[in-house]
Amino acid sequence: MRRSLCVRMGQMIPELWPARLHHLRRDSPKPEPLAQFYGELLGDRVAPLPDGSWLIAGRGRRLVIGKGTAGSVPYFALQLQDSIHLDAYRRGCKAEPFSSALFEEGAFAVTDPDGRRIVFGLSKEIETPVGLSARLQHFVCATQRLPEMLEFYRGLGMAESDRVLEGDTLSAVFLRSDPEHHSFAAFRAPESRPDHHCYETSGWLDIRDWADRMARLRIPLWWGPGRHGPGNNLFFMIEDPDGHKVEFSAELELMPKDMPHRTWPHEQRTLNLWGSAWMRS
Ligand SMILES: [Fe+2]
Repeated sequence: MRRSLCVRMGQMIPELWPARLHHLRRDSPKPEPLAQFYGELLGDRVAPLPDGSWLIAGRGRRLVIGKGTAGSVPYFALQLQDSIHLDAYRRGCKAEPFSSALFEEGAFAVTDPDGRRIVFGLSKEIETPVGLSARLQHFVCATQRLPEMLEFYRGLGMAESDRVLEGDTLSAVFLRSDPEHHSFAAFRAPESRPDHHCYETSGWLDIRDWADRMARLRIPLWWGPGRHGPGNNLFFMIEDPDGHKVEFSAELELMPKDMPHRTWPHEQRTLNLWGSAWMRS
């Protein structure tokens, strides 16, 4: 039987595990061209949603593009296991109802210290597996308040996998909601903003195939290929038209639920064992 709550430092923590990133929303002042960009990038179908936003959906991946500030990600959505899991989780956290075209009725959301919403629900859609393999796997933000963000996301029931320290100061944290090394991460930065989202492929040869697709589309690789220290995954990144980064990854590390977090130094090698790194601070 699943426990609905666990206790950490005297605080009741709702049981999130296992939960996976299901979709996220990326906003732009001109959503339709951005939706067409992602449709071409991923080889996915693009369709309007009733509220005027756009859905880009393909093999294990769904993205909502709406009208808003360039580069923003107003929410990301986690899929829980079933209705029993979802109901038990809702009882354990302060949530507000959330209506999503991609989730069954009963989805709900909480708001993090940066004002971004995290939505919890059950998938409505039966997926059509077309296109190259790459499942939407994690979302990452930059933040001015990293310690508060770590505390908040641990309070949601995520397990800390790795942290990066500059002296005694946190510079990055990686958290998991199932055995995959991270479904969410955050970097210390001068301003709070979205950082990137990532598609996990089935192996190194998929990284080659996706990079060849970028070449055909004349989209230059922005960073990589390389291998991250935390997560040990192979990766490259590109930029979308608003400067938001999109990552393709392979071989992301798996960690047991109760494995304690590890610590890395704040240096380029931590973020790319193969070479230079994108340092957010
Ligand atoms: Fe990433």
